[in-house]
Amino acid sequence: ISRTKIVDLLKRTDFGATVNVKGWVRTRRGSKQVNFIALNDGSTINNVQIVVDLANFDEEMLKLITTGACLSVNGNLAESVGSGQAVEVLATGIEVLGACDNTYPLQKKGHSLEFLREVAHLRPRTNTFGAVFRIRHHMAIAIHQFFHDRGFFYFHTPIITASDCEGAGQMFQVTTMNLYDLKKDENGSIDYDNDFFGKQASLTVSGQLEGELAAMSLGSIYTFGPTFRAENSNTPRHLAEFWMIEPEVAFNEIEDNMQLAEDFIKYCIQWALDNCMDDIKFLNDMFDKELIERLKFVLSNGFVRLPYTEGVKILEEAVANGRKFEFPVYWGADLASEHERYLVEEHFKSPVILTDYPKEIKSFYMKQNEDGKTVRAMDVLFPKIGEIIGGSQREEDYEKLTRRAKEMGVPEKDIWWYLDTRRFGTAPHAGFGLGFERLLLFVTGMSNIRDVIPFPRTPRNADF
Ligand code: 4AD
Ligand code: MG
Repeated sequence: ISRTKIVDLLKRTDFGATVNVKGWVRTRRGSKQVNFIALNDGSTINNVQIVVDLANFDEEMLKLITTGACLSVNGNLAESVGSGQAVEVLATGIEVLGACDNTYPLQKKGHSLEFLREVAHLRPRTNTFGAVFRIRHHMAIAIHQFFHDRGFFYFHTPIITASDCEGAGQMFQVTTMNLYDLKKDENGSIDYDNDFFGKQASLTVSGQLEGELAAMSLGSIYTFGPTFRAENSNTPRHLAEFWMIEPEVAFNEIEDNMQLAEDFIKYCIQWALDNCMDDIKFLNDMFDKELIERLKFVLSNGFVRLPYTEGVKILEEAVANGRKFEFPVYWGADLASEHERYLVEEHFKSPVILTDYPKEIKSFYMKQNEDGKTVRAMDVLFPKIGEIIGGSQREEDYEKLTRRAKEMGVPEKDIWWYLDTRRFGTAPHAGFGLGFERLLLFVTGMSNIRDVIPFPRTPRNADF
């Protein structure tokens, strides 16, 4: 008999059929005559109940059926009376594929998320992380489906790069040199001539610049890949390695970009509600009683669109009325997450797209406004998360772009290939980046970004 996944087994009604299930023991309980084993194979959050008439089985084998052990069970499908499931399996044969001793860390139910981070190699076997990682999969599929349906091409940008897109100076270096080979030139800077790439190379902080090249040839593209930032910030919303989705669209302006971002996020949330409800319900009941409500609320309302200058006015008024913030608010300030969340959670009670930021706090490639002070940036701000998307219309004018790059200290020799797009048939275009794990925080209701990626990379944490 071939194996049936539990997710499929639980839907069957051909009672009496002979079936095989394989999975890991979650719990075992019962009397001296009959035992009930909750078996899970990861295909669904639901376990299947295995009913074992002890008299029919070898005692030594039965001893090995402990929490965490892996079993292959043959049996008959039966309608269940009491297990909370429609079906159960009356075991006729049990093989212990892998025994599990009592040093297994997931013995008792109800471990803290902090503890589970220390056993990241095993935590996908818990209900919580099973749910989160199944949702993570479904969100990746939703993303590809959304763009594919709209005629976007999935474009692969390099992970190793010599360009620093965001200009934030927080890149991981890629080198084959060891300490002995490090040579400094007369200015005291490291001489990379003999290194693998013959120049300083890093892990990418964004695929945007290469994505723009693709938009200027394929029209509408998106990237979806790992991104690296060596920012030393230990927060519940930052990872050193995260996944980013970056659409880039020729002929789009900032308004189109905002609409694309709103449609995109709503599509992903709707997909989660349509495809992951068992898992979302579990997380809702376990951690965040307002999760489902919040997901539905975001779907039912348009995102507020607001210029940065207006946003700062609202924040300044709040301060004048006695609202305390840790960081100061003034025109020109880079808003902190407490400010973003004030606008979203307290003032508008809606997702907000903040636009037209001061050019000093944004990257060199953003399209400059007529006022000479602001750029056509857009950040999408979300409840519980703060910034979930950052994007902009791009500066398509060669002169303005090179001037701004110079002002911001981006060497022309590093981005000559990028500047070429503005020399050879330039066009208006726009794009944005969505942090995949930030989206997952929102969809799962988890509160720490370390809990929505299988192996989080944060300062001092690259063990497994
Ligand atoms: O706002 P950011 O830095 O924008 C860019 O990188 C642009 N090049 C995107 C573009 O226009 N194509 O990053 C985009 C998003 C943020 O809004 C946030 O959701 C996520 O990436 N992000 C992080 N997520 C987890 N950990 C970090 N350290 C992150 N830094 C940014
Ligand atoms: Mg940003």
